Amino acid sequence: MTIFKILTITIILCLSPIVNAGMPKAAIASAHPLATYAGFEILEQGGNAFDAAVAVSAALAVVEPSGSGLGGGGFWLLHRASDGFETMLDGREKAPLLANRDMYLDAKGNILKGLSRNGVLAAGIPGLPATIVHLSEKYGQLPLSQVLQPAIRYAKQGFVIGAKHRKLLKYRLAVLQKNTAAANIFLVDNNIPKQGAVLKQTDLASALEKIAQLGRAGFYAGSVAEKMLKSVQQAGGIWTQKDLSQYQVIERKPIKGEYKGVKITSAALPSSGGIVLLEALNILEGYPLNQLDEISRKHIIAEAMRRAYHDRALYLGDSDFIDVPVKRLLDKNYAAGLRSGMHLDKATLSAYLSGNTPEKKGGRNTTHFSIIDKDGNKVAATLSVNFPFGSGFMAKGTGVLLNDEMDDFVSKVGEMNGYGLVGGIANGIEPGKRMLSSMTPTFIEDANRIAVLGTPGGSRIISMVLLAVLDFAAGRGPESWVGLPRFHHQYIPDRIQYEKGGMTHDEIAGLTKLGHKLNEAGYRYGNMQAVQFNKNTQQLTAVADPRGEGSALVKGY
Ligand code: DON
Repeated sequence: MTIFKILTITIILCLSPIVNAGMPKAAIASAHPLATYAGFEILEQGGNAFDAAVAVSAALAVVEPSGSGLGGGGFWLLHRASDGFETMLDGREKAPLLANRDMYLDAKGNILKGLSRNGVLAAGIPGLPATIVHLSEKYGQLPLSQVLQPAIRYAKQGFVIGAKHRKLLKYRLAVLQKNTAAANIFLVDNNIPKQGAVLKQTDLASALEKIAQLGRAGFYAGSVAEKMLKSVQQAGGIWTQKDLSQYQVIERKPIKGEYKGVKITSAALPSSGGIVLLEALNILEGYPLNQLDEISRKHIIAEAMRRAYHDRALYLGDSDFIDVPVKRLLDKNYAAGLRSGMHLDKATLSAYLSGNTPEKKGGRNTTHFSIIDKDGNKVAATLSVNFPFGSGFMAKGTGVLLNDEMDDFVSKVGEMNGYGLVGGIANGIEPGKRMLSSMTPTFIEDANRIAVLGTPGGSRIISMVLLAVLDFAAGRGPESWVGLPRFHHQYIPDRIQYEKGGMTHDEIAGLTKLGHKLNEAGYRYGNMQAVQFNKNTQQLTAVADPRGEGSALVKGY
């Protein structure tokens, strides 16, 4: 995109409240301005929120390759206004058919460090291409080839990389330098490009064009698939054509629940997001949170997080492979039982929770966008390649950067993954299984408002969404939920982690006195993208997390 074009778009957007006064409006919040513009471009051509979601997903694959991409996957939560139908598109990656439980262990059973995070063996079979095709064909109004145009244009013409892109390149530099194909695209002289550099991705544009022409066959068969398999197999990877041919998008019933009059709709397995979120809310429902002093309030929320994440570690995994007691975990009586072991004056040690997964020893990238269109269709989508720039492995000649989502499986019981999460055999590796996720695309609704939200952030995604739901329930708006100082407990490690500067001295002292261990993250985390519709005023609001470089717009069309 030329500077002229960017300026033109900016001017049009600035004028839009005047120019479009009285027109029906839509709201889009995403992690990159060009992705948000892509969504509006498609709405203006007569697309609905689902077409816009395809455009935004594909655009993010181009302009935010650190967070998601054709080589990754995700979850798209949909609400269709005409009949109220809701579904979750499960586009999660799958373990290759040649994967096995011990593939990241040496002969002595010790973890082979890095193997599930860096390079070709870390990659699950991508789900994003199949899902955007499915989303377009089943729910969209415009042809897929039209909806993919903005992304194809960004890939061909290039775009100016931002500060976040450069920071994340630095974080993954060593891994990217090892893969010539990735280094050729993302690095200059094998190093981080200068501020203001333009990133063009012609191979990626061709892969997108193939999908535009042929649908899923453009990626899972034909020349793109052949090149991917050749590159993967030459590097010692285990993907086969059967993996690609067998990949299926699955429509799942979203997880639903209610917290003090607020209706919540969220991600189903193989994401743990909805279950952990609802279980924590069910526990918290028994407390007058808004009447507690701030230390007690944070203590009780952390205790609820501890218990919900504990159950995540014990029970959750791909329900197509294992039995998960979802009904029990979401039962209000089960929450009441958990509450009976909680005390206002004392933290529980994680080690004292029954059936604990032992702690041995001790991230960040993904993306979220939220859309409400003029008809009230809604999309909440959280997409990922796992670590920034995924596995750092690009399949030669395709522009497709592969994910390292295999690290979301439990490589070894009791050992932490890249987000410090532990788990058991429920989330062990099996051929064709989907790895447990924390991604939590969510709708919330009360008598007056409807909201669509989500965020990246690995294991901390669920606690971020939880804090946002509690803030919504307390009557505050999206600026507040998105900007809130965040804190998190995930059972193991047994400590409350809080954002840099996110707690007062008194809170730290008070929580320590109750028996909590605390740890300040050296940075602020998350990149929440939220939109809200106020049923009384008919007003739409869109807010992008101040921590990121996203763009949230409300615009008539
Ligand atoms: O699915 C998951 O839970 C992770 N792969 C998400 C990773 C993530 O959010 C990284 N973000 N900052």
